[in-house]
Amino acid sequence: MSALLDMDWRSVVADLVATRGTDRTALIPILQDIQLNYGYVPKEAQTQLALALDISQAQVSEVISFYSFLSGEPKGKFVFRLCQTISCEMAGKEEVARALESSLGLSFGETSEDGLFSLEYTNCIGMCDQPPAMLVNDDVFGDLTPESVEEIVSGYRRKGEEL
Ligand code: FES
Repeated sequence: MSALLDMDWRSVVADLVATRGTDRTALIPILQDIQLNYGYVPKEAQTQLALALDISQAQVSEVISFYSFLSGEPKGKFVFRLCQTISCEMAGKEEVARALESSLGLSFGETSEDGLFSLEYTNCIGMCDQPPAMLVNDDVFGDLTPESVEEIVSGYRRKGEEL
């Protein structure tokens, strides 16, 4: 991660602004670009982006904290996002949440020390007909049970060993 901290974020942001423009509506697309390419949006990138778009750094960090798919902190290689909205809540989200914590050895909001897993809640992911549901990065899982969660986590553990 320190390689990211040492990057020339002024130059990275300048390249993105050249493509996306300096209008403040470019903020979210540029944040998405950074998140996608680097896994999170480091503080220095936020500073350079605020300068480039002539907005405050607080505005940049507020947008990052508002959207659960953006992060100002490094995340695990696999980010588990369990839906906490009403359909999933009523269909057994709590049991699934406990199974995820147990299988991953993490509490919600934590990232494993080896950098492999992060565990978070998210709001509705559009899978309300198959609750409880979650995302693991871009993979979608529905009709979750404590048993299926264990299998899913084991699958990602195997993937992690292959990295
Ligand atoms: S309420 Fe959970 S996916 Fe919509």
